[in-house]
Amino acid sequence: MEELKQVTHIDNVKLGEDGASVVIIDQTQLPSRTEYLVLRTAEDIYDAIFELKVRGAPAIGICAGFGIYILAKGIGTEDYEEFYSRFCRYKEYLDSARPTAVNLSWALNRMERVVTSRRELGVEGILGLLKKECIAIQKEDMAMCRKISEYGLSLLKDGDGILTHCNAGPLATSRYGTALGPLFLGKEQGMEFKVFADETRPLLQGARLTSYELQKAGIDVTLICDNMASLVMKNGWIQACLVGCDRVAANGDVANKIGTSGVAVLAKYYGIPFYVLGPGSTIDLSCPRGEDIRIELRSPDEVKKKFYQTPVALEEVKCYNPAFDVTDHSLITAIITERGICYPPYKESLTRFKEG
Ligand code: MRU
Repeated sequence: MEELKQVTHIDNVKLGEDGASVVIIDQTQLPSRTEYLVLRTAEDIYDAIFELKVRGAPAIGICAGFGIYILAKGIGTEDYEEFYSRFCRYKEYLDSARPTAVNLSWALNRMERVVTSRRELGVEGILGLLKKECIAIQKEDMAMCRKISEYGLSLLKDGDGILTHCNAGPLATSRYGTALGPLFLGKEQGMEFKVFADETRPLLQGARLTSYELQKAGIDVTLICDNMASLVMKNGWIQACLVGCDRVAANGDVANKIGTSGVAVLAKYYGIPFYVLGPGSTIDLSCPRGEDIRIELRSPDEVKKKFYQTPVALEEVKCYNPAFDVTDHSLITAIITERGICYPPYKESLTRFKEG
């Protein structure tokens, strides 16, 4: 169990001991090196999020919470108006790093509410509350991951074959993760799963992070290229698909890593349950449908060059590189949250969940 704990209990994002920095594991260096980065400036934090050094919707939110706290601390004025105006500039800047995962703006808005709702405390008092709030965001995420893992595990059987896409494990969150959480929790309870991890082109989060986390935890994992998912399903090796989410619209459409919707279409064809796991903060009722979710477009170099010794396509070849796609709600068997399992029709079940 020690090997399992080393995966599920890592601090991938934390407040630096000096109280003026954010320390993250640089996920772009994994699995070859576990390297910690110390982020001190707005540019450091923006870059870490934009370059996916810290990634996964909940982890991005946690990093932004710690980040805006240390930046607010460095503003160095007692004047509330000046403090708030500079806070807003930092917030806007960090928020622009990645558009699709709602957790980024959710965490920043939560921090802003502290600033606007307790003005009477003065800047010093507000800073104390901001510190408490960013720590609370992370603590709540730990508890949420644990509950999501329990609900997810209730849907699985010992020996099940599982397919997952991208990485929604401890590195993407705090502690257990979301989509991978039930597998770690099941392992703790003596259950065995056979997991197939999609490599997840172009940035290979499945290969670099998911297979790494599962292997280190002693869980049976087989890495496959994304285009092998249909074959392993057809072979009868998959009893459930588990994926994370970056934003869930009010009607149950789900934005997640590019390629997720293809997995869902295949799962429907082969009659395999397709489960989305994520915290309540990822459900965005202000966004009616998947079409309303802004999808991040990234550099063509990630497709043509990034992981290759020489480019795999001519420089002049056009390239389309959306980082996420939207899975239609009709393909989703259930959305698993920290407060229970939401089934279709999602408009009702998600609203009930949010109203709680
Ligand atoms: O671009 P990434 O690596 O940040 O994308 C991550 C995903 O799509 C995850 O599945 C999602 O954020 C959920 S993480 C618990």
